[in-house]
Amino acid sequence: MTSTHAFWLAGRQATGEATIDVTSPWDGRLVGRAAVPTDAQVEEAVAAAYAVRDEFAATPAHVRAAALDHVSRRIAERSEEIAALISAENGKPMKWARGEVGRAISVFRIAADEARRYNGGEAQRLDADLSGVGRLAFTRRFPKGVVLGIAPFNFPLNLCAHKIAPAIAVGTPIILKPAPATPLSGLLLGELLAETELPAGAWSVLPVPNDRMPALVQDERLPVISFTGSDKVGFAIMDSVPRKHCTLELGGNGAAVVLADYASDADLDHAAQRIAAFANYQGGQSCISVQRVIADASLYERLVPRIVRAVEAQVTGDPADDATDVGPLVSEDAARRVESWVEEATAAGATLLTGGKREGAAYAPTVLADVPSDVAVSCEEVFGPVLTVARAEDEAAAFAAVNDSKYGLQSGVFTHDLQAAFRAHRTLEVGGVVVGDVPSYRADQMPYGGVKRSGVGREGVRFAMDDYTYERVMVLTGIDL
Ligand code: SIN
Repeated sequence: MTSTHAFWLAGRQATGEATIDVTSPWDGRLVGRAAVPTDAQVEEAVAAAYAVRDEFAATPAHVRAAALDHVSRRIAERSEEIAALISAENGKPMKWARGEVGRAISVFRIAADEARRYNGGEAQRLDADLSGVGRLAFTRRFPKGVVLGIAPFNFPLNLCAHKIAPAIAVGTPIILKPAPATPLSGLLLGELLAETELPAGAWSVLPVPNDRMPALVQDERLPVISFTGSDKVGFAIMDSVPRKHCTLELGGNGAAVVLADYASDADLDHAAQRIAAFANYQGGQSCISVQRVIADASLYERLVPRIVRAVEAQVTGDPADDATDVGPLVSEDAARRVESWVEEATAAGATLLTGGKREGAAYAPTVLADVPSDVAVSCEEVFGPVLTVARAEDEAAAFAAVNDSKYGLQSGVFTHDLQAAFRAHRTLEVGGVVVGDVPSYRADQMPYGGVKRSGVGREGVRFAMDDYTYERVMVLTGIDL
């Protein structure tokens, strides 16, 4: 019998009147059932979060840090079980699920460290003007209010961690909504949080169905919304609540540029391996997976066959198998959409170099060349294992091609030339430039987020902590400086 996973309402377990079936994208088996809260239960969680906000903000740093350390430790202790859960509900191969668990351990540990040192305050003398003589400004950060965190399916544990851990670190309550396709990892985080001494009401994990989210988004007791997902949904949320603080981590069509100096056989082998792995990791369902390769024309003909070979060497199959590199997409519908986009590209003149086949929810790692710039695989986010390759006449043309996108999340630039790296950093309209590697690198402490349709604001533990708080100044008068 498959058990029902309770949700977490103000720190305690509860069930509602309905459940969501969570099935494996690989073989369709039932992985578990997630209890769905009723409207009254959602209201109870919001009211509890709102009521506890002053008490939580006043909690000493050591209490919040101890809770965060505890969750980090417990994820580590249960790492293999949690990786298996992620893999089962999301279809992510175990090797990538283990990587995600390792990152979540870090996110909570980093948040614990940040909680200990954050917000000591900053003093500023004001006597640079006559009117400020004897005055001192002391500035500290305070929570903006209860956070509504909305997490996606592609990193069901770690992107929940990126919402929750910074909230606890700054002492602001959070209502977390995991993705409907993958709620179980977020609910498991709730299990670990429930082992801590955090005040009741400080956190809830509620698998609220998407069609009931507009009411929660509008709720004035939740002034901060942290959303990760598609640009369409993210900007629709932001447009519906123009006076709220919204952080949006949205899509991308990540480019890897290979510049002319990256030309030795070893360089090209390295670039091809990294590109093949990170175009296909998690079935390409990462906002920073490699979708576009833009190679200097002088090395294009030597690079592309290497990429195709490396893509064909990716092991596809059962995500539970340790050897598997590429599992299924999150659903058969998702794979059908990818299939239709590839068909659109080939009908418009693109050359299929490898892949292009679907079986259920699995889509074969695919490489396309000669792709027109106006088809979906060029200009939209594919969120599937599909890579396009194109040549650029020189560095300036390559950077212009990267920027010729409505998205701007991260880019990778393969070069050994430090000056070129700085030119890339200056020129590329993205939230992050990775030199010597693919765009798919994210360390959880660094600022992460995009420009253009890729989003607004930054995550990365300390950056999310800043995002959840605002500066409040206290001016002291009559001070003998
Ligand atoms: C994302 O897909 O936006 C998250 C990528 C990551 O955390 O590595």
